[in-house]
Amino acid sequence: MDQMFKFIELEHLYGSAIREVKTKLEILDSEFSTKYSYNPIHHIEDRLKSPQSIYKKICSKGIPFTVESVRENLFDIAGVRVICNYIEDIYQVADLLTSQDDVTLIRRKDYITNPKPNGYRSLHLVIETPVYLSEKKELVNVEVQIRTIAMDFWASLEHELKYKTDTEVSADLAEQLKECAETIAQTDLKMQQIYRTLREID
Ligand code: GTP
Ligand code: MG
Repeated sequence: MDQMFKFIELEHLYGSAIREVKTKLEILDSEFSTKYSYNPIHHIEDRLKSPQSIYKKICSKGIPFTVESVRENLFDIAGVRVICNYIEDIYQVADLLTSQDDVTLIRRKDYITNPKPNGYRSLHLVIETPVYLSEKKELVNVEVQIRTIAMDFWASLEHELKYKTDTEVSADLAEQLKECAETIAQTDLKMQQIYRTLREID
């Protein structure tokens, strides 16, 4: 089959995997809402890597531009970002998702316990989830980034600063950004403590 058509199928497959994972997360969130009048998930975002970005990444990794090698080597074609209210929601959502029968955990990076040197925090998972097509079942990798509203606030602005401004971020500004990340992390812990105290009273 011609590669062009195969890539259209690939986009469909990973787009479908995103929908499967989002549905799983939405069901968990609505169950919590029904049972405990509480939503662990604030909102969910998703993105499908464009053929151009796939091509760029494949070139930088020096691997062949075929559907097979893309599927084997890229874990972030399908991306789902889960923004939670509190830090403990992150781990709960991750555990509930990865303990489902048809979900396999491929990779887990905890940048909350071990933040990146620049201050970045999030829990990153790569999971494998089935997509049922007319003639077969395909197991598809989805990158799931789980973070609090506060972590997302920092990451969004840091990303803007890094990619949208032409000037290189100086060492001094990088240090200030890191300090912001730490202040935000402390606030996250404080907010969680306040929430816990209120739940106990309730
Ligand atoms: P990639 O090839 O970049 O995907 O490397 P990787 O597979 O080792 O992924 P990593 O765990 O570093 O996370 C990649 C994704 O996490 C990025 O595409 C961003 O969405 C997010 N991310 C990682 N580090 C940072 C950071 O320092 N700042 C921001 N804003 N986002 C980050
Ligand atoms: Mg990536």
